[in-house]
Amino acid sequence: MAHRWKNNLSDGDVTPYAAFLNRRQIMAGLGGTAGLGLAALGGTTAWADTARALEPNSWDDVTTYCNFYEFGTGKGDPAAYAGQMTTKPWSVEIDGLVDRPGSYSMAQILEAMTLEERIYRFRCVEAWSMVVPWQGFELADLLALAGVQGGAKYVAFETLYRPSEMPGTAYKVLDWPYREGLRLDEAQHPLAIMATGIFGKPLPNQNGAPLRLVVPWKYGFKSIKSIVRITLTDQEPPTSWNMANGREYGFYSNVNPKVDHPRWSQATERRIGGGLFAGREPTLMFNGYKDEVASLYEGMDLAQNF
Ligand code: MTE
Repeated sequence: MAHRWKNNLSDGDVTPYAAFLNRRQIMAGLGGTAGLGLAALGGTTAWADTARALEPNSWDDVTTYCNFYEFGTGKGDPAAYAGQMTTKPWSVEIDGLVDRPGSYSMAQILEAMTLEERIYRFRCVEAWSMVVPWQGFELADLLALAGVQGGAKYVAFETLYRPSEMPGTAYKVLDWPYREGLRLDEAQHPLAIMATGIFGKPLPNQNGAPLRLVVPWKYGFKSIKSIVRITLTDQEPPTSWNMANGREYGFYSNVNPKVDHPRWSQATERRIGGGLFAGREPTLMFNGYKDEVASLYEGMDLAQNF
């Protein structure tokens, strides 16, 4: 497949971000929507965030206010310590219920995938949010590369676990390696992407280089970073946050203003970078992606399956 974006471009090769924004705004104007999350580079589908314009956060917001507990629990720890993580070479083991199990190198993956740009709202369970322009490809395409078998029902993900390069793993805050999971139909939804870059540049280590999941309608912790293993399975996989505290973190973790975290409200959120006096915004069902994903959960009690 022809690449529209490569993650090994130098800064000079990449469309200046301002130019990209202009194009996006022009397209938004033509389409009559408040903002476009996708298709700015010629894709066929336009995802519109009709509820709010998607004005991205700054590079500094996105790369210095992070959660990556393998490097510490402070927001600044990933930016301070993730630089020591070796990301080349990198490969992803894809196993379980697939036709072509094996170790896929980053080069192999990038060769097979078409990178595109998507701007998604990102909502953390801690009730803050950001808007991030990602480069990546649909997770469904990566799963298709390995060939999903008929019996598969779930997808399990694992992060690199390398204590010598990850000072935070000296503490048993979570049961390492970091693990996450999706139901297969969630994983194959076109909004679920594997990101390799932000703002037209390779993903910084603190944001999950070289490959991380982004699931925009779920709380941020589902968006697992620095993935080394993907397993197709017929059982709901264990996930790190659910194992650590099942009362507070469910398997689904859909953004839902009506289901509070046991220790705080999820009804509103604070936009990072909004300044000290910026007000809180109401949180939207499925983080504003309700029209696209609500059908995945039809008939489910979302207070039970939180
Ligand atoms: N992935 C790993 N491996 N380790 C983590 O601690 N934190 C999660 C998620 N992915 C985390 C992770 C949480 S709680 C959030 S909110 C997002 O990453 C933060 O992504 P960002 O730092 O790129 O904004």
